[in-house]
Amino acid sequence: MLILLLFLSMILLVVVNHAARRPGRPVGVVSATGLVILFLTFFAEVFAPLVVMQIFIVYPAFYIWRWSSGTPRQFLIISVSVTVLVYGVIGRKGFEKEREWAELRERYPYQSLEARLPTSAMSLNKNKLSDDSENQLEVLEEKISTTQSLRFIYRRQALAQLHEAKTILFSDSMGFGISRMRARPSDTHIKAGLHPDVNISQPASLLEVPQPNGRSSPVLLRFENEELREWHIKGIVDFTYPNAFGYMRDIRHVAGFESHRFSELPAPVLQWEVRRLDLAGLLTHENPVVYVSENLPCMDELRGAPTRSLDEFETPALEKLRQGEHLQVVNSSEGVRMLGAIRCVKQCEECHNSKRGDLLGAFSYTLRRIGK
Ligand code: HEC
Repeated sequence: MLILLLFLSMILLVVVNHAARRPGRPVGVVSATGLVILFLTFFAEVFAPLVVMQIFIVYPAFYIWRWSSGTPRQFLIISVSVTVLVYGVIGRKGFEKEREWAELRERYPYQSLEARLPTSAMSLNKNKLSDDSENQLEVLEEKISTTQSLRFIYRRQALAQLHEAKTILFSDSMGFGISRMRARPSDTHIKAGLHPDVNISQPASLLEVPQPNGRSSPVLLRFENEELREWHIKGIVDFTYPNAFGYMRDIRHVAGFESHRFSELPAPVLQWEVRRLDLAGLLTHENPVVYVSENLPCMDELRGAPTRSLDEFETPALEKLRQGEHLQVVNSSEGVRMLGAIRCVKQCEECHNSKRGDLLGAFSYTLRRIGK
C-alpha cells in the first residue's frame, strides 16, 4: 500500500514538474492528472490522505507559481518540499496509530473457541418443544435483539476493523478514510458496556438447598408463573450477555469474547427471592452435572470447577426439559425449586454449533418467600 502511495506521489511530482518546464505550462494536463490520481486513491479502497493532501497543496502552489512566473527550479523545490512535509507529518501520525492498533490487537487477540465448546448429544433437541418453550424462544430472541444496542454494534465493528481492516496506515491518521466507519478501534470502545469482572456470591450456601417435600403441585399462582418465566429469560440474557460476544470471523477466530457470567443477583420477583442459582451443564461432561460454586455462575470460574450430580428435584425436572418443557417448578420444604431451560436461539447458533431449540443448559433455582 505504501509503495502504491509513493508511486502515485512520484507520478504526481513528475507530471507537475514536467508541465512546469513545458512552454505554456499547461494547466489542463496538470489538473487531469490530479483528478486521475484522486480517483486511483479511491479505487485502492483507501481515501489516502497523503496523496490527497499533497494534491491539495501542490496544485494551488502550481497555479500561484505559474501566475507569479517563477522558474521551474523554484517549483521543483516547492513541490518536493511540500511532499516531504506531508509525508513527514501525516506519515508519523499514521505510524503512531498503527502502533496503537497493534497493541490493541495484542490485548484483544483472535482466540479459538473450538476446544471450549464441545457439543453433546445430550443437548440435541429430539422432541417437539412445548408451546411454552417455543414462545419463550421467541421472547429470548427478541430480548437479546433489544439488548444489542448501538454500543454492541460499535464494539463488534471496532473489533472487526482492528483485525480485518486491510490497511490503516496513512488512511486513518488525518481522520479520513476509516472515519467513514463510525467505530474506531480504541480501548474505550471495546470495553464499553461490558460486565464488571467481579464474582457475585450466592445468597445461600449449597448446604442449605432444600429438597422437594413430596407435594408435586407447585404453590405458584398463574400470574406468578408468568412473572417467573420473564424473570428466567432476563437471567439468561444477563448471563450470556450479547454485548460480550465480541466479533466472530469463525469459531477459530473470535475477538473480544467475554465468558458468560451474571452481572447481578436477579432481583426478587413478586414475593420470591433467590437463595441459590446454579448452572446445570450438559455440554462439558458425559452426564449432566451441576457446577458447584458459592458464586453465581461465571464460566471463567466454572471451567474446571467441582461439580455434583443432579439432585432429587433436578433429575426428573431435567428429563422434562429434554422432552421439550421450558420450566419445572416444585414445592420444597422452604419454598420453591425451579429448573429453567437455557435453549439455543438464533444468536447462539454460530458459536455453539447447535440448532435453535437445543438445550444448552439449565438454571437450577432455589427461591424463598421474602421475609420467611
Ligand atoms: C461468541 C461465542 C458464544 C456465543 C454467541 C454464545 N456462547 Fe454460550 N458459551 C460459549 C463458550 C466458549 C462456552 C464454554 C465456556 C467457556 O469456555 O467460556 C459457553 C458456554 C455456555 C453454557 C454452559 C455450558 C456448559 O455445559 O457448561 C451455556 C448454558 C451457554 N453457553 C448458553 C448460551 C446461550 C443461550 C447463548 C445465546 C443466547 C450463547 N451461549 C451464546 C460461547 C458462546
